[in-house]
Amino acid sequence: MTAHNKPLSIAPAEGKLGIFLVGLGAVSTTFIAGVEAIRQGKAKPIGSFTQMGTIRLGKRTEHRNPLVKDFIPLANLKDLTFAAWDVFPDNAYEAAKKAGVLTPQDLEPLKDALSLIKPMKAAFSQDWVSKLNGTNIKTGTKREWANQLIADIRREQDTQKMNRSVMVWCASTEAFAKTGPVHQTLTAFEKGLDENHPDIAPSQIYAYAALSLGIPFANGAPNLTVDTPALLELAEKNGAPVSGKDFKTGQTLMKTILAPGFSSRLLGVRGWYSTNILGNRDGEVLDDPANFKTKEESKLSVLDSILQPELHPDLYGNLDHIVRINYYPPRGDNKEGWDNIDIFGWMGYPMQIKVNFLCRDSILAAPLVLDLALFSDLAKRAKFKGIQEWLSFYYKSPQVAQGLYPEHNLFTQEMKLKNTLRYMMGEDQITHLGREYYE
Ligand SMILES: NC(=O)c1ccc[n+]([C@@H]2O[C@H](COP(=O)([O-])OP(=O)(O)OC[C@H]3O[C@@H](n4cnc5c(N)ncnc54)[C@H](O)[C@@H]3O)[C@@H](O)[C@H]2O)c1
Repeated sequence: MTAHNKPLSIAPAEGKLGIFLVGLGAVSTTFIAGVEAIRQGKAKPIGSFTQMGTIRLGKRTEHRNPLVKDFIPLANLKDLTFAAWDVFPDNAYEAAKKAGVLTPQDLEPLKDALSLIKPMKAAFSQDWVSKLNGTNIKTGTKREWANQLIADIRREQDTQKMNRSVMVWCASTEAFAKTGPVHQTLTAFEKGLDENHPDIAPSQIYAYAALSLGIPFANGAPNLTVDTPALLELAEKNGAPVSGKDFKTGQTLMKTILAPGFSSRLLGVRGWYSTNILGNRDGEVLDDPANFKTKEESKLSVLDSILQPELHPDLYGNLDHIVRINYYPPRGDNKEGWDNIDIFGWMGYPMQIKVNFLCRDSILAAPLVLDLALFSDLAKRAKFKGIQEWLSFYYKSPQVAQGLYPEHNLFTQEMKLKNTLRYMMGEDQITHLGREYYE
């Protein structure tokens, strides 16, 4: 045992952890159904680092590789409880059935448990998601929405006897927006709520409600939401961890696996053309150019920080990166992504790589919701507040401190995540230097 450092003082994960899900669509229902199936012993938590991951501790000769969940104090799956909001009144069973991700054989045995989860009324405006037209929505001003959301959270915490809570945004991608004056300070934001300011997005009101109560907030979509000075100020003030944006699944996951390989081997990239077809509600929402723009920015951002064209102009200085998403209803949640990558090698000779990923969006996203909920709760108990960059592993557009560029390389993100866990528990950082084995 070589624990040289002092472990952080982390409050124990006692009692129930309430997971507040904004949006009860394909991702949320696949997540809840999976947790229920795992609790009933019908499925394994595949894709979840908190449940199936191991972490090496100390030197390779020590052979210490515990499961992550045995190494750090995480909430147990049996202690999770759920609450959600959606613009449609379908309960989690009905919503899962409509989403069509899980087969009836998997879904029917979970019907009783899922039917109990009924969505609360959403804070929603078509100004931000034009393609949806639901009836389960709150009335009133933005300030009134914030008050109603806070009351919703308190009521659920009470009736479901939650000891701790986290909130994860799994609702639709909102229309593209940049930070404006109303997002610059908490005072300006609160004044904006009072004035029903048009630049305040619904997602920011959910985040405001969570952070006002010191509840961690994780953002699974590319909307700005907590990536604004005002809400970061609130997170710091109330000791709430935040992270985002946009779950890293499917095509972008593949991109951040492949690109680090090209850059490690100094292979040039001349072009990367990515296209997708998908037919779920997410695809329908993204069919609106304003909503697609939010997603496009997120998807486009990953290559630059991995390939660093400013350091390697000969290899990556002239790269055409194009991303398309086409809404194609027959495909449902089973997205198909194609990538054509034009690379070049020694003496500039060109080569091509074609990737055809027939993926399942919500199957890839569900374990990320679980890990983010558990790690956000861990962060809170460890008294971490504000931006949690160590959770970049899960996101397409990781939120980072002002002035830093985000780290997109999946393997660097994994190392950062694991080293943060080692740091929390007072274990040595692993540098992979390894001179000691030969000295
Ligand atoms: N599945 C993935 O691989 C993946 C990856 C990255 C990001 N995302 C993002 O995750 C989100 C969820 O994806 P999905 O496939 O479950 O979509 P979905 O359309 O099936 O579910 C989203 C739900 O959010 C609801 N909603 C919209 N605005 C709301 C609001 N203001 N308040 C409450 N509910 C609201 C919608 O009615 C819908 O039921 C999307 O933003 C998507 O872009 C998904």
